[in-house]
Amino acid sequence: MKKVYFITSNKGKLLEAKTRLSEVGIEVVQKNLGYPEIQADTLEEVARYGVKSVRERFNEAFILEDAGLFIKSLKGFPGVYSSYVFFTVGLNGILKLMTGLGSEQREASFKSVIAFSEPGQEPILFIGECNGIISNEEKGNHGFGYDPIFIAEGVTKTFAEMETNEKNRFSHRGKSLDLLVNYFKKK
Ligand code: IMP
Repeated sequence: MKKVYFITSNKGKLLEAKTRLSEVGIEVVQKNLGYPEIQADTLEEVARYGVKSVRERFNEAFILEDAGLFIKSLKGFPGVYSSYVFFTVGLNGILKLMTGLGSEQREASFKSVIAFSEPGQEPILFIGECNGIISNEEKGNHGFGYDPIFIAEGVTKTFAEMETNEKNRFSHRGKSLDLLVNYFKKK
């Protein structure tokens, strides 16, 4: 595999995938095709439905990804609604919901589901998770989305305070990309 399309409009996700896959000589090319993001209970269902839709229109090897933030004390919210919540109440809304909660009640995890598809083969899912906590305030200006309020286990800075390759070492997407890379290496 020398080149893989990434069906996404998210520049942050694209940069993380490009950074990781370039380390093994694979070029990631953005394809802004668009696909329905169904309202489902799991990221896996959203990713599978997206793949089905893209495959009907695009006959090349590609990946797409669905991700979400799951806050333990909020019973997994925003989860599959992460995108909607980000664009409505935003980081401030999440921080307000968690006002007064101590670090144990601030536990959260990010999950990334990457779907890889190529013509004539069943699509494959690669799943990465990253545990951490929701910080008390926004910090950093790298990355995207919830990065300024998420601190991964084992570090003291938010994802938004990290360069791309450092975030990849800890993040949910870094892990799902690692699994994708291993799959490509074995092929
Ligand atoms: P989606 O995969 O594009 O549907 O992402 C859902 C929501 O989670 C969006 O609002 C993203 O901004 C956010 N999100 C996904 N991945 C990350 C990440 O790595 N860091 C911060 N926010 C993320």
